[in-house]
Amino acid sequence: MRVPLVAGNWKMHKLIRESVEMVEALIPLVKNASGVEIVVCPPFTALSAVGQALQDSNIEQGAQDVFSEPEGAFTGAISVPMVLDTGSRWAIVGHSERRRVFRESDALLNEKLLAALDGGLKVMFCIGETLEEREAGEMEHVLERQLTNGLQSVPADQTGALVIAYEPVWAIGTGVNAEPNQAEEAHAFVRGILAQQLGQTTADGIRILYGGSVKPSNAAELMAQENIDGSLVGGASLNANDFAEIVLAAT
Ligand code: 13P
Repeated sequence: MRVPLVAGNWKMHKLIRESVEMVEALIPLVKNASGVEIVVCPPFTALSAVGQALQDSNIEQGAQDVFSEPEGAFTGAISVPMVLDTGSRWAIVGHSERRRVFRESDALLNEKLLAALDGGLKVMFCIGETLEEREAGEMEHVLERQLTNGLQSVPADQTGALVIAYEPVWAIGTGVNAEPNQAEEAHAFVRGILAQQLGQTTADGIRILYGGSVKPSNAAELMAQENIDGSLVGGASLNANDFAEIVLAAT
């Protein structure tokens, strides 16, 4: 009942021309994929051009971040209406690189999430523990904190637009993915927290993506787990063939 979702987070890669070439290569490779939702998240600079190239395709577009205020004196920030204006329907909020490199707090991420949902974007809200936290036995505590603070005040009628991405920080860009059973354990825990916060029925409908060194060779096994409803792909999403293989592994 949860339609799998495969999303590519391109991070700070690709100029406009390269971005358009990438989706032009991807579109025919996945045009017959059914039973899976597909999203690409190019850098902000390429959103308009890629948004145009994706018209009439079965691929949706997302931004990698979005600010909480609709407009105003916020130098460098991109608002929800601006993201929508590029033909995007999604935003990633709370990626571990935003949390760490840009020092974004749980409170700010909660504001961004509420603004994005309220403005009509669908959101992939990212959570995940560092290696240090996992080794200290704090994984559950960290995930619970990120969810409790991050999802505070989300209106019940907007949870349909919410997707959670579990991305253990130690698996991101390292080539070392979480083992499928290890990821499943974390996903089941996350769903339990969602049930406490939002009720079991709502929690059962929310997709939880796995992210962290997903590639064609491990995608099917990861996404076959009961509580893994798709993936958020970094490095392997930069290549049309690899990303298409991961999309097809979800079907
Ligand atoms: P990698 O797939 O490169 O490990 O990145 C995962 C990620 O951070 C997706 O948001």
